[in-house]
Amino acid sequence: MKYMFTISLLAFIGLAATWQVSSIDFSPEDNVQDILVQLGGEALPHTVNSNIEGVSVEKGMELLTTGITTKANGGKTKKQSSHFLCTSCHNMLKEDPDLAVADPQARLDYAVSNGLPFLQGTTFYGIINRTSFYNGDYVKKYGDLVEDARHDLRNAIQLCATTCAQGRLLEEWEVESILAYFEQTGLKMKDLILSEVEANQINQAISSGEDQDMARNLIQSKYLQASPAHFIAPPENRSKGPEDISQVDIENGAAIYQHSCLHCHENQRFSLFELGPDKLSLKFLDKHFNKYNRYSTYQVVRWGTSPIPGKKSYMPNYTQERMSVQQLEDLKAYMASSN
Ligand code: HEC
Ligand code: HEC
Repeated sequence: MKYMFTISLLAFIGLAATWQVSSIDFSPEDNVQDILVQLGGEALPHTVNSNIEGVSVEKGMELLTTGITTKANGGKTKKQSSHFLCTSCHNMLKEDPDLAVADPQARLDYAVSNGLPFLQGTTFYGIINRTSFYNGDYVKKYGDLVEDARHDLRNAIQLCATTCAQGRLLEEWEVESILAYFEQTGLKMKDLILSEVEANQINQAISSGEDQDMARNLIQSKYLQASPAHFIAPPENRSKGPEDISQVDIENGAAIYQHSCLHCHENQRFSLFELGPDKLSLKFLDKHFNKYNRYSTYQVVRWGTSPIPGKKSYMPNYTQERMSVQQLEDLKAYMASSN
């Protein structure tokens, strides 16, 4: 009898607990960062300073997509760069189906189905949730400049504005506006791939205040806080290609050409060097692919072309995470198929 009572009491408590949990479920639209803070996590170091005159999300978006916006007094700003827009090299939307991994083929497939470009820079979507920038081998390219930008999103923006985009430094209110836009496009809980069990664990931790570290770690294991970057060389023997690639996918190569190369080169959008979907362009690239000259795709994809500060646009290289060895061979096969 006594046992029966205890059991029903336990069952009642269990029911109440379930009830309580479901009434405070996090919503798919909740910001990941807000949930982390609710779970005892720290605020991000790059909170927008909206006390500065002229700061707005819209202005941030305009700067990123057009390079120009309106000043607080109504006049237009000078164009940030005469060569590029931020969106020449970065997406504004989510670009990876699983945010926990940097998988260039999954990203390309996602770009094809969502009509996005496939680019050298990492997307701005969720950049506010990252804590480290210009990771890995970027120190080889930008040297000491990386030091101040590694853990400071404001400095990372300025480094890219001047060095990647080859343009002017942004004013303080412009940087804060870009940050304000980034803050609006932080990751949402719905962007994370969580199993039902995991979602429940997070809810439990929110409601009970227990196991908060576990819940935060769980959430943070579902997206990358730093975009990994490894520079790799073209294959030793360019005509033979890499040893470990046995099959190529021409259609995949076509997708790379369309979503990457043509994004900048078609109609000279962001480069003086014009390429089109025509056979002539493909034949030209095919002819130079394996060579050791400025028109070699191996050369420009892996080493980029060199910038002359403030004077010239240049092509950024693709890291291994932004274009895989297999993908570059697929691109080569596509170009060769033009013959
Ligand atoms: C010519 C190409 C290019 C242009 C133009 C460009 N970027 Fe970048 N940017 C890159 C590359 C390549 C990286 C390397 C790191 C990465 O994103 O993976 C980068 C990195 C960054 C990072 C650090 C990201 C990270 O996770 O490491 C920020 C922030 C950034 N850019 C902001 C901007 C802003 C703001 C603009 C416009 C003012 C801009 N970029 C224009 C190519 C470019
Ligand atoms: C983010 C924009 C961007 C993307 C994406 C891009 N390029 Fe470029 N590329 C440039 C710029 C800028 C130059 C510098 C030359 C210029 O503008 O005149 C350049 C230079 C080149 C050159 C050397 C031209 C010369 O005159 O020396 C080749 C070849 C080239 N790109 C091929 C490609 C191929 C192939 C792809 C796709 C894998 C590609 N590019 C993707 C922007 C881009």
